[in-house]
Amino acid sequence: MPNRGRFITLEGGEGVGKSTLAAELSLRLSRRGVDVIRTREPGGTPGAEAIRKLILTPDGEIGGWQPMAETLLFYAARRDHLDKLIRPALERGSWVICDRFSDSTRAYQAAAGGVSAGDVEAIDRICVGVTVPDLTLVLDLPIALARQRMTARAGAADAIESRLLSYHEAVHLGFLEIAKANPQRCAVLDASANPQSLADAAMAAIDARLDGVR
Ligand SMILES: Nc1ncnc2c1ncn2[C@@H]1O[C@H](COP(=O)(O)OP(=O)(O)OP(=O)(O)O)[C@@H](O)[C@H]1O
Ligand SMILES: [Mg+2]
Repeated sequence: MPNRGRFITLEGGEGVGKSTLAAELSLRLSRRGVDVIRTREPGGTPGAEAIRKLILTPDGEIGGWQPMAETLLFYAARRDHLDKLIRPALERGSWVICDRFSDSTRAYQAAAGGVSAGDVEAIDRICVGVTVPDLTLVLDLPIALARQRMTARAGAADAIESRLLSYHEAVHLGFLEIAKANPQRCAVLDASANPQSLADAAMAAIDARLDGVR
């Protein structure tokens, strides 16, 4: 069954402004009278948030995850999120704004982590199936700028943030490649813009690409 609501995902590396944009977009869409659910990955449901902790703060005994094991943890969390939150919301006609989704697995675990892209697509078909985002906003920001923003923000780096710079460069390129390969679904936004201008550009992409917005 097609989605009654609209499924919008926000993608990009750490510190590019996804969460800030997600908050602003849900505010602007709610003002238009749209019923909006804002959520994030990994997480969004109690089960997926528990898996998030396992992925991002593995204890000493776990000692970190290999790329394929990490991929499967992300998809276990994603399936719980889809079953319990995203699909019911879309079926009710709500709009879902999701901070990261499958493209993050493609960029981090495949492009940067070395899992084969074909394996991720096979898992994605099984787990996500037809619940493909209607629109994906890819926030593009040079790594150096994203690092500056993260340094300004408080909090310790998690298991993925603390990976090598070369890994994060590969993630950044990975997102741009994904956008290039999926021009119908993805819009790349210049994330160096200030939060309000970035939100203006995101709303323009929403209006241009999604039907029945107003
Ligand atoms: N457009 C912007 N211009 C300047 N600074 C911004 C912008 N958007 C967000 N910031 C600031 O940059 C920092 C990172 O933003 P944010 O937390 O939204 O990024 P994120 O992509 O969600 O990061 P993460 O992947 O780590 O969750 C925050 O301190 C935020 O206030
Ligand atoms: Mg965030």
